[in-house]
Amino acid sequence: AAPILRSLADLRALRRESMMKGETLAVVPTMGALHQGHLSLVEAAKAACDRVVVTIFVNPKQFNSPEDLANYPRTEVEDAEKLAPFGVDAIFVPDPNEMYPQGYATEVAVGGSITSVMEGPFRPGHFEGVATVVAKLFLQTGADKAFFGQKDYQQLMVVTRMARDLDIPIEVVGCPTVREPSGLAMSSRNTRLSEAGLVTAGKLNPLMEAAAERLRSGAPYAPIETGLRADLATLGFGEVEYIDLRCAETLVALEQADKPARMFVAAWLDGVRLIDNIAV
Ligand code: PAJ
Repeated sequence: AAPILRSLADLRALRRESMMKGETLAVVPTMGALHQGHLSLVEAAKAACDRVVVTIFVNPKQFNSPEDLANYPRTEVEDAEKLAPFGVDAIFVPDPNEMYPQGYATEVAVGGSITSVMEGPFRPGHFEGVATVVAKLFLQTGADKAFFGQKDYQQLMVVTRMARDLDIPIEVVGCPTVREPSGLAMSSRNTRLSEAGLVTAGKLNPLMEAAAERLRSGAPYAPIETGLRADLATLGFGEVEYIDLRCAETLVALEQADKPARMFVAAWLDGVRLIDNIAV
């Protein structure tokens, strides 16, 4: 099994060793409660670099409510077991007091149109929390490549922008969303759904795919969004925070898929907030 590193000093020792040997290093940042989606990133990282560090840190700065932070699953022993077959070089599990020691006062905020839409307004401070911790993890690991899921497409764009803007010499690699057989995007929060909720949640992605198919054949977006909202209400979804068609590069809203686009949904079900996005 991979060694669990809890201090920055131990992480730096690993980085020094791999640099001296001329080996490349990958980082896979996670908040633990690992599932197949996370493990697909580990697999991609192993294929791309000589060494792989998986980080597990439930970052308090990116949570919007104390309840969500308190309820976030913490499963370190199981996580280490799931990582064992992949032969990663280390699991970095920093102490919150080492990440954010007494007096910590620096935030990284990515501005502009990437953060002003979708998750940005619905989760105030979330992307600042993400950009801050990911900047720290990039600098702490000194990794050559970092692996993120397209499941959190907007996050992937935020961390890519952040690394570029701060001249952090790391390549951010986006990997496809791993799904349940139903199409439901795997997520640590899915474990909070009831059995009935899981069945309903499984209907979201097929509806999105059907909508995307119509968009691909040139249909205008507005009536498709109206139809999708009605379908979700009928299925028993709660509040739909957004359903958007956006340019895959800039996240500018589109009225039809006349360039590479993505469709995004955030909706509540059973008190669980689900997000998904697909290429159109
Ligand atoms: P977490 O939700 O644990 O996700 C860690 C990584 O796994 C992210 O890059 C996320 O996009 C990816 N991921 C999650 N579900 C996936 C799926 N079904 N298929 C493919 N990839 C998936 O995202 C975070 O943690 C945090 O914000 C973090 C980046 C670690 C910063 O704290």
